[in-house]
Parts: sequence; structure tokens; C-alpha cells
Amino acid sequence: MRKFALFLFLSASLWANAQSDYYQERFRPQYHFSTQKNWINDPNGLVYINGEYHLFYQHNPFGNIWGHMSWGHAVSKDLLRWKQLPVALREENGFMMFSGSVVSDTKNKSGFGLKKEDSPLVAIYTAHDSSLQTQNLAYSIDNGKSWSKYSANPVLDLQMRDFRDPNVFWHEPTKRWIMSVAMPNEKLISFYSSFSLKQWAFESDFGMQSDTSGVWECPDLLQVPIVGEPNKKKWVLLVSQNSTMQYFVGEFDGAKFYNENPYNKIMRPDYGTDYYAAVAYKTTPDKIPTTIGWVNNWNYANEIPTSPWKGAMSLPRKLAVKKMGNEWVLVQQPIKAIASLRSTAEVLKNSAAVKSRFITPFKGQCFEMELDLRPSTTSISGVKIAVGGNRYFTIGYDAAIEQLFIDRTNTPGGFSKQYPYFNKKNAYLKTVNEVVHLNIFFDKSIIEVYANNGELVFTSQIFPDEKDTGIEFFSDGNITVFENVWFWPMKSIWK
Ligand code: FRU
Repeated sequence: MRKFALFLFLSASLWANAQSDYYQERFRPQYHFSTQKNWINDPNGLVYINGEYHLFYQHNPFGNIWGHMSWGHAVSKDLLRWKQLPVALREENGFMMFSGSVVSDTKNKSGFGLKKEDSPLVAIYTAHDSSLQTQNLAYSIDNGKSWSKYSANPVLDLQMRDFRDPNVFWHEPTKRWIMSVAMPNEKLISFYSSFSLKQWAFESDFGMQSDTSGVWECPDLLQVPIVGEPNKKKWVLLVSQNSTMQYFVGEFDGAKFYNENPYNKIMRPDYGTDYYAAVAYKTTPDKIPTTIGWVNNWNYANEIPTSPWKGAMSLPRKLAVKKMGNEWVLVQQPIKAIASLRSTAEVLKNSAAVKSRFITPFKGQCFEMELDLRPSTTSISGVKIAVGGNRYFTIGYDAAIEQLFIDRTNTPGGFSKQYPYFNKKNAYLKTVNEVVHLNIFFDKSIIEVYANNGELVFTSQIFPDEKDTGIEFFSDGNITVFENVWFWPMKSIWK
């Protein structure tokens, strides 16, 4: 008996140790979600119910590379601090659980609830084997704790090898469920409708425009408020197009999506190297949709040098749209709750007029930084972070051509052949009152840059030396002024 008690005590303390050792590893993000161990990719089934945000995700429960795709599961009350739960949906009978969505079936239209007044959670996912992808259901009547697969699966089968990532929402005007689902090789998103979630009718296709260079995956169709007119909304269609994303803005009449942005114009929610498969919480308490994306890139996703986990999620972003010229632009702001992780602010009181190089007093690999950059009209100027020796990551603005850019060329990249091909990214950005406003989030191996209050976003991974903590401002010889510089070391969500 005493031996047994000792065994219990030892195994309990071993377990506690094992828990606390996670999230201390080199490169481990401290305020972005990642799993304790093993591979993850796309966020799945983002749903808010009973005061909790559920995050499911593509997950290999058995290893640190892609495979055995199942749905992992975590919950959070604030979209910041997450509790990892047991795997929700497992690979079974040779079928992997590919990406999909979860809805709260509040009117029990599916009949999966035992009583009329039950609100089952219903997952709509792709079952995948090497020759077939079909759309399937699973349901939970205990708030997502346990799941059963529907006995009459699949609910949508076109006998196609590539047909995936169903994303479902309730369309109130037509009082039915709408599914967006990808036809990857055709570069089309198809829309289907249903009253029961069990039978689906084809409505329309949208696609074959803008970026058609890679397979189309992970669609999400949602309503987004217009900046300054919170009661007016537009429809946004998010599409992942290997290995980046694009969006369309327009109208949806319950059957068909109409793009109102210039035909073939490519608009990206993120111009960085590592933002993919983002989808939204569509029914949030503040009614503003909130996206989460996978911070990785299929070209080298399996090779990034992190262990025992691989893959992380972006900061949750609140969405809005605004009209700029003849284009509807997606505006993204990280959720406000992130500010609760800030330690005491360090401020640069007087502005820094920089002619070549300015070494700031700030240091770290886990921080948020905010500043206004006032470039001279011809300069290339900006911020270098993760500086150490001749290593650094650049966030810069080329004023002559009005381009914001990121560049990780001078950070370690030898772990993968593909990774260096994606070292530089840039996008068009106009100054506002001659200023580029930057919010920079650096979290060990993840950088998210929000420019001009979310008009342009870049997400990128780097794998710096632990000693590379310096932060510098630079300008190529013309004077650039750095104003209103705030720096906050960030607290960990895992402590
Ligand atoms: C996108 C994707 C999806 C698919 C899943 C498989 O990253 O390729 O289309 O459902 O990953 O893990």
C-alpha cells in the first residue's frame, strides 16, 4: 500500500515537472498558442459557446511532422490563455480528419441533440484517404468534451480526390446553413446550403480569379463591419492559396458571392511568409469576427527547427473593412486583451533622428513595440530586431517606392533548402500624415508587424540565436525620425 502511495506521488510529481518543462524550450512562443508537443497545422472549428472559445486544429498526435491528421482541441476564455484538452477527433478506418468547422446547432436542426431544446455542437470536416475526400459530420452533446462521428457519413461526396475544408455558418435571411468548400485544383470555392446539416444542395461557385497560382484551400465566408460604420457590413471571403492567402470583399445573397474589388486584383490578409489557413470565430460576444491563422509555410513547415512541437497560431485578429480608392481593404487589429500581457513600458522620450544607425536601449526576444516612422521622401529606413553580431531581422520602409518590407536574410536559415527562398516580402503602403505607424510583436520565433493600424500585416518566422536581442533603428543616409516609441517586454501566457 505504502509502495503504491509512493508510486502515485512520484508519478504525479514527474507529471507536474513534465508539464512545467513545456513552453521553456528555445524558440517557444510565449504569447502565441502552440501545443505541448507534436505537429499542428490549420486552425479548425473555431466556435464560441458558453463563455469559451474552442480552438481545434490539424494535429499529429504521434509525431512532430505532418501525418495521422486528427483534430486537437484547446479552450480559452480570453483567446490568450489556452488549456489544451484531449484530441477531439481521431484518424479512423484509414481516413484522416482534414480541416473543417464547428457550429452550435442552437435549434437542434440536425437532430443530434437528445431533446428538442438541446444545442449540439456539430463538426463538419473532410475525411481524407489517398483517393477520396468527402464532407462528414461529428457531434458533441457535452460542450465539445466528447465527439461521435455521424453513422450516415459522408454528407457530401462528389467522388473527388481533392474537395475539402468545409466551413459552415447560419445564414439568418434564408434561415439555413451555408457551407463554403474548396475545389483546390479548379481554384474554386463552392457554396452549398442545408436545413439540417445532413443534406446539402449546391448553390454556386466562385473563383478562378486573382491569385490562381496554387491550390485553393480553407475558405471562410463571413460578415465584417465597415470601419466607422459599425452597423453596416460587407461579406469577406478568405481563401488560402498555397502558400499564402488572399481575400475578396463584396456581397452574398444567400446563394452567390459577388466580388466588389477590382477583378483579378490580389488582396492579401497577410503579406508575410508564414500565415496560412486563417479562419474566423464568426459569432463573438462583440459581434466582430476574429481570425486565427497557422504561423508556418508548407514549403518548409516540416523542417523548422522546433521540438518537441511544430507549428503555432497567430495572434487572434479583429476584422473590419474600409474603402480606399476603389478597393475594399481588410483592416486587422490584434485583440485588445494582448495589452494585458505587457510589462512596464519603456519609452524613448525624445524622437530619434537617424542618419545611419541608432542602437536603442531596448533588448529582448519577447516584446511588443509601437512607433511612428517619419521617413524622408527618398530613404530606406526602419527597425532591426533580433540583432546580434551581423545577424538581424529587418522591418523597413522604402519611401521612394512606398513599400513596406521584411527581410530575414541575415538570420539563421540553414535548416531548410526552401526557407531562404522566402526571405524577403514587401507590399505597397502609403504614409498617413507622412508617418508609417508600426506595431511590432516579437515572440521568440514569430514576428507579426501591423502597419497603419492594421491596413497591412506581415507574419514571419525566424530562428535567431538566443544572444540576438538587440534592437536598432536605421536609415540609409537620409534623416528618418522615429517618434512615440514604446516598448513592452511581454509576459508569458504559459506561467
Ligand atoms: C491546408 C490543408 C487543408 C487540409 C489540411 C490537411 O493547410 O492542406 O486543405 O484540410 O491542410 O492537414
